[in-house]
Amino acid sequence: MNAADLLGLPWVEEDLDRLEVVLQRSVAAEDPFLTEVATHLIAGGGKRLRPILSLVCAAASGLGQASQDILLGGVSVELVHLASLYHDDVIDEATSRRNVESVNSRWGNLMAVIAGDFLLARAAGIAADLGTEVASLLAGTLARMMEGQVTEVQGTYDPQRSESGYLGAIAGKTASLTATACRVGALTAGLDRSRVEAMTEFGECFGMVFQIRDDILDVVASEEELGKLPGQDLMKGVYTLPVLRALGDRSVGPELVGLLGRPLEGDELERAMKIVAGSGAIASAVGEARRWADLAASAASTLGPGLVGESLRDFAHTLVDTVAIHST
Ligand code: IPE
Ligand code: IPE
Ligand code: MG
Ligand code: MG
Repeated sequence: MNAADLLGLPWVEEDLDRLEVVLQRSVAAEDPFLTEVATHLIAGGGKRLRPILSLVCAAASGLGQASQDILLGGVSVELVHLASLYHDDVIDEATSRRNVESVNSRWGNLMAVIAGDFLLARAAGIAADLGTEVASLLAGTLARMMEGQVTEVQGTYDPQRSESGYLGAIAGKTASLTATACRVGALTAGLDRSRVEAMTEFGECFGMVFQIRDDILDVVASEEELGKLPGQDLMKGVYTLPVLRALGDRSVGPELVGLLGRPLEGDELERAMKIVAGSGAIASAVGEARRWADLAASAASTLGPGLVGESLRDFAHTLVDTVAIHST
C-alpha cells in the first residue's frame, strides 16, 4: 500500500523525501550502537502513513512546500509511532516487522524497550520546540495510546470480549495517533480552528478504519503483504473485530470458541484462521470499517472545496477497498 498514491496526491512524495532526512537526523545518538538500533525500523521501510497525514492536512494552507515546522511535526508523530512498534513487538514477542527482523528479536527486549524510550524522548524534544500546544497534544496522545494498549492486554484470551471494548481499545492505541497526526499538520500550518477540528475528527475516524483493516489483514493476508507474520492476534489471544463477528455467527461460533481462550499454534491456529476467513465475518468487519469511513468522509467534507478535502474524503473508502477484496 502506497498512501501517497491512494490519496491521489503524488506531490506529497517531495515533502516526504525532505521529511525523511529530518527523521534520520532526529534519531542520531552519541552512541553508534544506539543509533543503529534506533534507525533499524526506519531503514526497514514502513508506509509513513502518519507523517503523510500531517503533510496533507498542512497542505490545505495552500502555502506550497512544507515548512520546517510542518516537517518536524510529521517527524514527531512518526517517532511516537515507531516507539510504539518497538514496544508492541516486545509485548507481542514478534519476530518480524516491516519485512525485517524485529528489534526485540535481533537485540533482545531490553534494547527494544530502551531504544523505544529513546525515540519517545526525541519525539518529546521536537514537540517541545514546536510549542506548548503540540507538546501537550503529544503527551495526551501517548496517554490515550497506553490506555488503549492496557485495555487490549486486559481483554486477551477472553472470547466474551465485547465489541465496545474492542472499539475503545483501538480508538486509544491507533486512532488517537492518526487524529494527532492530522491535528499536528493543521496546527503547524496555522490553519483556522474549524479546519483543525475537522481534520482531527477525520484522523480519529480514519484511524478506526485503519486498525480494523489491519485486524482483518492479520487473518486473511500473506506474510509478504503484511511484512509481519499473519495470525499473530489469534495466536496471542487478541480477539479482534473479525473474530468477534465470527464468534457471534451461529454456524461457526461454537467450533471457534472451542479453540479460543489459550495460546494457539500449528494446526489449531490454521483452523481458527480458516474458520474466521471462511465465514461472513470478514465482510461484516469490512462493513464496520465502511461505517467509520463514512464518518471520516463526512468530517472531510466539512473542509469545503479544495484538493486536500476531496482527497481526504475518498481516502478512508479507498483504504477499505484494499481489504474488501478479501471478503469476496
Ligand atoms: C502498524 O502500523 C500498527 C498499527 C496501528 C496497525 P502501520 O501499518 O502504519 O505500520 P508501518 O509504519 O507501515 O510499518
Ligand atoms: C497496533 O496494533 C499497536 C500499536 C499502536 C503499536 P497491532 O498490535 O495490531 O499492530 P501490529 O499488527 O503488531 O502491527
Ligand atoms: Mg502487535
Ligand atoms: Mg495488527
